[in-house]
Amino acid sequence: MIEEAPKPKVVVLISGNGSNLQALIDNLGTEIPADIVCVISNRPDAAGLDRAKNASIHTRVIDHADFEQRELFDAALIREIDKHAADLIVLAGFMRILSNDFVRRYQGRLLNIHPSLLPKYPGLSTHQRALDAKDKKHGVTVHFVIPELDAGPNIIQAEVPVLKQDDAESLANRVQKQEYVIYPIAVKWFVEGRLQLHGDRALLDQEVLPESGLYLDSPHTLH
Ligand code: GAR
Repeated sequence: MIEEAPKPKVVVLISGNGSNLQALIDNLGTEIPADIVCVISNRPDAAGLDRAKNASIHTRVIDHADFEQRELFDAALIREIDKHAADLIVLAGFMRILSNDFVRRYQGRLLNIHPSLLPKYPGLSTHQRALDAKDKKHGVTVHFVIPELDAGPNIIQAEVPVLKQDDAESLANRVQKQEYVIYPIAVKWFVEGRLQLHGDRALLDQEVLPESGLYLDSPHTLH
């Protein structure tokens, strides 16, 4: 009997609702040929933990409030991630700043999704900032994580229009719909071995991606 090659192992870090985690779970199997081997939350009450349990995925809570220093919290995260021999670490609404040591350890296999068209609006309250600036377009970016916050090379972006009647919540909802499209695509590329971090740029199929990342203007049309 021919044994199947083991699937790449993915660890997902969350802090809250976990709707991006859900999008990944929904695409596991043929769409994303990988196993999510553990979901780690820094908050014991994160709803995403139930999403993982419903999919029979191992969960672990490492509560940042139990640690006096960021480095000690990050060391506990590292111990858990390394137990699972993770090939890829996916930040999916993980709302803690990671230490440089953590980021360097996993650099090149650490992805994040951020709700803005990076480099615009790193940090928090991105939807309100886009509204305050009267931007006509807003969106979301998947990027490789580097020590500088929300600054790593972009992999893929999706844009949404900002409508006259939008508030931060309606805009966030429109952006999130795109998140569920682009994050699974980026994770799929990575676990298929097509996506790499090379210096300060992302490569797809050995080709340097544009600084904005690939740009998704309608579902599944990439250019
Ligand atoms: C998502 O909108 C994600 O882009 C954002 O948190 C939300 C998590 O939602 N991430 C960041 O702001 C990271 N800087 P989810 O828990 O339902 O996936």
